Order: sequence, then structure tokens, then C-alpha cells
Amino acid sequence: MRRPIARIAGIGRGVPAQVLTNHDFAKLGLETSHEWIVERTGIVERRIGGTDVTTTSMAADAARQALEAAGLTASDVDAIVLSTATPDRLLPATAVDLQAEIGAASAAAFDISAACSGWLYGLTVGEGFIATGMARTVLVVGAEKMSAIVDWTDRGTCVLFGDGAGAGVLVAAAEGDDRGILSTYMKSDGKLADLLYRPAGGARDPFGPAVAEERSHYVQMAGREVFKHAVRSMADACDQALCAAGLTGADIDLLVPHQANVRIIESTARHAQVPMEKVFVNVDRYGNTSSASIPIAISEAIEQGRIEPGSTVLLCAFGAGFTWAAMVVRF
Ligand code: ACO
Repeated sequence: MRRPIARIAGIGRGVPAQVLTNHDFAKLGLETSHEWIVERTGIVERRIGGTDVTTTSMAADAARQALEAAGLTASDVDAIVLSTATPDRLLPATAVDLQAEIGAASAAAFDISAACSGWLYGLTVGEGFIATGMARTVLVVGAEKMSAIVDWTDRGTCVLFGDGAGAGVLVAAAEGDDRGILSTYMKSDGKLADLLYRPAGGARDPFGPAVAEERSHYVQMAGREVFKHAVRSMADACDQALCAAGLTGADIDLLVPHQANVRIIESTARHAQVPMEKVFVNVDRYGNTSSASIPIAISEAIEQGRIEPGSTVLLCAFGAGFTWAAMVVRF
């Protein structure tokens, strides 16, 4: 196992107050049921931001909480890496809006796009900055207003997602301290991009009346195919990260998987040989918040005492691209 270069010094979350339950979909005229959604996904409710809630505002709530937990302030931040599939504006990056909002005047700020795996990709970027001496403190944020990009008339997708943000503060691991990122694995397969995507609205097919008419600027997903790849890829990612850390599932105190679907989570845990009592699940309360899901889950796990100083935690994610990733972190 290599000596950790960077450790997570603080975590925070920012989620909208408004709750949308499975039963509320009936009021929206959507042909679905609480029973169908729970049986297939484990989701009971999700948070939805109103017009006053933006990707930036949720990110700012999470960032402030994470900095406070780390005992640092916004002026200590050297870089902001923000993962989002729902930038508030297409130009510039949401990271610079976050920078202005929290007053991180000394930071370099930019967005990354790796869908649900984005927060783990972001931690790896931040770790690299710390390794090269480019930065001492990196704020890594996953922030998503998924309600803005799902088609509320498509029952196959709109019931799955929710809004929220999570943030972590990365600092250099001290010499002789075994806490920090112990291993990382990242992978992508762009040949499968069209299984989960927004077909139009970008530079290739800009938004206009035809796109609006076809609703092709909203998320489209081949659910069953995505499910199969998610199960396979999350298993692969866990194997690779555990192997690189020289550990097995038996060494893991808590598995924090991307919260998309409880059946995918159970399958991942089974493969990694981590019993379900050592798996953190909150998909029932938040749905799939894409790249925000892992930091939101870590933040709750710390609050509930399920992650303590010294806990060895396996993180793993899968998302559009496809992208997938896993990481072993000692807190
Ligand atoms: N309510 C009621 N019926 C529904 C709903 C709904 N909300 N959505 C779909 N159905 C119907 C379908 O129309 C279909 O009906 P049909 O047989 O008459 O055609 C039937 O249910 C079965 O549909 P499937 O898509 O085959 O159902 P499946 O068991 O695969 O479950 C689900 C669908 C929940 C989407 C599942 O495939 C899944 O979880 N896939 C992974 C999705 C995911 O996790 N995506 C995100 C990962 S990546 C990321 O996080 C960005």
C-alpha cells in the first residue's frame, strides 16, 4: 500500500428542503406507483430544488459546511474542482460562480464532466494537484440540479433522480499519517455513451424549437442496459481499488457506493464481499443525485458515527459515459 498523499479533512452537504415522494407523482399525472418505484429502485422520496435553488447555491451550502468541518476558510482554498452534469450556465463553469459565492479569491476554479463518477474523478484531480505541490487545499464538489434536465413526462427516468450537492476538502496527508486516499481506479467506455445521454442541446445540435419539440435536450436512458453495465462496472472498480490498496472486502469498515438503485448497491456489496450492515444506503431518501451522491452519503455517515477517524472506506461509482471509479480512503 502506498503512503497517502492527500486526505479528506472535511465533508459537507447542501440539499433542498423540498421533498417529492413517490406518491406525489400521481398528482403530477404520471402513470407510476410508489410500489413500482420502491420495488425496482428502493427510492421512496427525493429532494427537488425550486427556482431559488441553483447548482451553485447547493454547492455553496456543501462547501461552507465542508470547510468548517476541516477548520479552514474559503481563503485557504487553492483550487475548486466541481463536478456537475447540470451547470447553471453553459459558460462559464459553475465552479467560478461557486468561487465568487463563497469568496475563495485565491483559487483556480473549473468544472469537470464525468457524470455520477465525477466526485471520485475530482478527488483524483485534486490529489494530483497536492502531489505536484500546485495546491495545498482543494475543494472538490459534486453538485446537481437533476430536476432541471429530466423529462417530467418520462416515467422511466424522472422518478430516479433528485437534487443535491456534496463537498470535500482535500489537504496534504502528513508524514507518518496513514489517513488519506489509499488507492484509486478510474475507467471509461465512450462506445456506450448513447445508453444514457442528452441527445441535443449542445454544440453539435444546439437548442432550438425542433429540439424542444422532440424533448431531446432531456436525459434519455436505456434503463435495463445501464443496469447491467452498472453492476459489472461497479464490481470491477471495487476489485481494482481493493487490490491496489492490498485489501479485501473484510478490511472495509464501510462501503459507500453511488446511490442510484438499491439493487445495484446490493449486487456491488455482494461482489466485494462486504455485508449489507457495512454498506451506507440513503437512495431511499434522495434518489440518484449523480456526482453529489457519494459526498452526501459520506456526510450523513460521519454524522451517524458510521465513519470515524481511522475508518477504512470503499467508495465506488458508475455513470453516464460510461464512467466508473472506486477509491479506498482512510478517514
Ligand atoms: N412506473 C411504472 N412503470 C414503469 C416505470 C415507472 N416509473 N418506468 C418504466 N416502467 C415500465 C416500463 O414502461 C416497462 O413496461 P413494459 O414492460 O410495458 O414496456 C416496465 O416498467 C419494465 O421496464 P424496464 O425498464 O425493463 O424495468 P426495469 O426492471 O429494468 O427497471 C429501472 C427500470 C428502474 C430504470 C432499471 O432498469 C434501473 O434501475 N436501471 C439503472 C438505472 C440507473 O441506475 N441509472 C443511473 C445509473 S448511472 C447514473 O447514475 C447517471
